[in-house]
Amino acid sequence: MAIKLNERYLKNFVGTHELCGMSGAVQTAHEQLTAKSGMGSDFLGWVDLPETYDKAEFARIKKAAAKITADSEVLIVIGIGGSYLGARAVIEALKSSLYNSLKKPTPDIYFAGNSISPTYLNEIISLVDSRDFSVNVISKSGTTTEPALAFRVFRDMLVEKYGEDGAKARIYATTDAARGTLKELADKMQYETFTIADDVGGRFSVLSAVGLLPIACAGCDIDALMQGAGDAMREYSVPDLDKNPCYRYAALRNILYRKGKRAEMLVAYENSFAMMSEWYKQLFGESEGKDKKGLLPVSAVFSTDLHSLGQYVQDGAPLLFETVIDVKTPQKDFFLKECPENSDGLNFLSNRNMSEVNRKAFEGTVLAHVEGGVPNIILEMPELNEYELGYLIYFFEKACAISGYILGVNPFDQPGVESYKKNMFALLGKPGFEAERAALEKLLNE
Ligand code: PA5
Repeated sequence: MAIKLNERYLKNFVGTHELCGMSGAVQTAHEQLTAKSGMGSDFLGWVDLPETYDKAEFARIKKAAAKITADSEVLIVIGIGGSYLGARAVIEALKSSLYNSLKKPTPDIYFAGNSISPTYLNEIISLVDSRDFSVNVISKSGTTTEPALAFRVFRDMLVEKYGEDGAKARIYATTDAARGTLKELADKMQYETFTIADDVGGRFSVLSAVGLLPIACAGCDIDALMQGAGDAMREYSVPDLDKNPCYRYAALRNILYRKGKRAEMLVAYENSFAMMSEWYKQLFGESEGKDKKGLLPVSAVFSTDLHSLGQYVQDGAPLLFETVIDVKTPQKDFFLKECPENSDGLNFLSNRNMSEVNRKAFEGTVLAHVEGGVPNIILEMPELNEYELGYLIYFFEKACAISGYILGVNPFDQPGVESYKKNMFALLGKPGFEAERAALEKLLNE
């Protein structure tokens, strides 16, 4: 059992009888998921992906990663949302939030096409300009504006630098097996192609080629990642709340939501976890935030954010509960030496590892926040390695699906994401949006 759910700091907020009262709803959600009878059941390919993944493609991913490592100083990963966050999250959590600045045998990895900022695009261009690079363009639909725009730019740069054939050998396309503009282009240009299965939605796709190719390029052990996810899949397959911490977590979130909590703050004590929290925010935000329901997923890195958000968490409106990732052993520790003059008065911290100071910060904070009326769920992990992270990813994916079903929403669609796109296309004069454009311009000019 890699993830331990510690409920000690929920005692004053959730009664045992309330958890027992959730067993029926959890059982129903579990049956909907396993019988594929719930909402969005066309998108359940992620449920057994850690076992059923395409082994031949997995071997090709490793081969492609080895080639990219050998011929590229930089890999540009182009994608947005579910086609971006998971890869970046895993790389930063396992390697470092400063991955690109570290001395390493693997390429620098820059993420592009995840915004429409011209400033950011120019910065990436300048970073890659004089260096050998490859591109992994990732888009399930193959039509998303942000990555499509970025791909135009980097494809042109590759052609200019290496010629048409040289560019082809440096472009890796991860997209739908059969449909979409990117798939058509990849077939026509004979790019090496990896597949996003029809039944795996973007935010549930990190354990497919979407995440695995960039993750492998960063030198992470993708076998261990899948092994962890596979073991989690087996552990979390029983609908018994006493035996399934993942379902228990989903039930606890729901109880707290029904008691008036409106936000879940995912807290970590490692900077490298910040992007994992971004991934979690997309996973839960897009899955649950619909029909005017759902917890708002927010995140913090402590102790950093104790100096910004700490005041609100402790004393502000009682909207939120915290879910704290408690990694028992850090990837690296630091021994604090004694300083003879002790001018800063910190010698009471000497001759200890910094991890001990971080742990006391964690303990002190949990106690203070609970005292302040903020429920705390603790997710304990032995360490942040590939196996444990694969386990955690699957834990959150399954908890999210069960949470969504308990909440009565379809956890696998995202209809709300379309509204901004429609307006943006209309305002940009895309053919077919003429009527919307006139109406929107009137609103803007009122
Ligand atoms: O979770 C989702 O489905 C979305 O975030 C998509 O991943 C995102 O919009 C990118 O879509 P696509 O991969 O089709 O470019």
